[in-house]
Amino acid sequence: MKVLLTGGAGYIGSHTAVELLRAGHDVVIIDNLSNANESVIENIQKIVQRPVNFYHGDLLNPADLDRVFADHKIDAVVHFAGYKAVGESVAKPLMYYQNNLVSTLNLLETTTRYGVKNLIFSSSATVYGIPEKLPVVEESPLSTLSPYGYTKLAIEHILTDVAAADPSWNITMLRYFNPVGADASGLIGESPRGIPNNLFPFIMRVATGELPELGIFGNDYDTPDGTCVRDYIHVTDLAIGHICALEHLGGLRIYNLGTGRGYSVMECVQEFSRACGFGIPYVIKPRRAGDAPAIYADPTRAANELNWHAQRDLADMCRDCWKYQKNKQ
Ligand code: NAD
Ligand code: UFG
Repeated sequence: MKVLLTGGAGYIGSHTAVELLRAGHDVVIIDNLSNANESVIENIQKIVQRPVNFYHGDLLNPADLDRVFADHKIDAVVHFAGYKAVGESVAKPLMYYQNNLVSTLNLLETTTRYGVKNLIFSSSATVYGIPEKLPVVEESPLSTLSPYGYTKLAIEHILTDVAAADPSWNITMLRYFNPVGADASGLIGESPRGIPNNLFPFIMRVATGELPELGIFGNDYDTPDGTCVRDYIHVTDLAIGHICALEHLGGLRIYNLGTGRGYSVMECVQEFSRACGFGIPYVIKPRRAGDAPAIYADPTRAANELNWHAQRDLADMCRDCWKYQKNKQ
């Protein structure tokens, strides 16, 4: 297959590119580099020893998309491109609605024009809001707390309508839980700009001494150790999930991609300390607004229908993101 990855220079897209290339598929990437660096493309090529077709282009500009489809016969698209920071979306809602929604509409318009109707969309566990029942299944009630989350919900609605209007579309929406880790090569990984919002990037900056300590947002939740519980999933397992989804396209489908196992913030800190060989200094801070006390996936549907199972555990995630971090220094 020749697969177009929008936002393919980003964290999850670059790992998916590597796994697709390792599996023998061809990859075309379009990314405006708003949250990525062109060196990622060189590193993907270094890992797989194969060339990657890269377009420095913006999905907000239909001509950029048109160029890609005119140059390549694309079999399927994986749509990663978009902004993803929850806090920033609260501060800059229009920027989020504009980029995430208009990019998606432009993409759908172009793919329709070129007759490409195989699409995978990067959705998120954020569409479950604060769940009442755990683990969450694909039919769990949907709600969300941020403009970012609303863009994911809105795009899920748009894609559902598109699939209903034209049954020749094959659309799979993947609801990712918390991706962590890096390719085992240590050449690609997650490196957010500025002070990180997410747990693991923050822990890594503390481990390198760039930040003095981790703030743990609340230790008085109704969870085993009082800190929040999340379903962390190795980014390579997540990337492989896209290949399974591409191999099982058919109508409209929705899958949770998580491990089904929750880990607390404290467990993450302890596991990361084991991986790097020293303690991570932390302080307990007040709860962060909007945090679910606990959320983890029921990944049964992906197991049954896609034959996909996460293989890597929290120790693997910590080892691989630390390797990537050390490589970068
Ligand atoms: P990322 O920011 O690393 O990657 C997104 C890429 O899209 C970036 O490289 C960015 O430069 C590019 N991009 C943004 N707007 C663009 C535009 N208009 N035109 C072209 N390129 C554009 O993020 P990621 O962690 O790899 O996430 C990928 C997708 O998965 C996103 O849609 C995100 O919302 C979703 N997701 C991520 C997480 C997570 O925790 N990382 C969880 C759930 C869902
Ligand atoms: N946390 C801390 N200190 C920090 C950062 C995070 O204690 O400095 C805690 C949070 O309170 C939370 C846990 O670590 O309990 C995980 O927080 P993240 O910000 O890493 O992840 P979230 O589960 O809040 O959200 C992430 C993405 C969302 C996505 C969601 C589900 O940021 O975009 O996973 O996929 F929607």
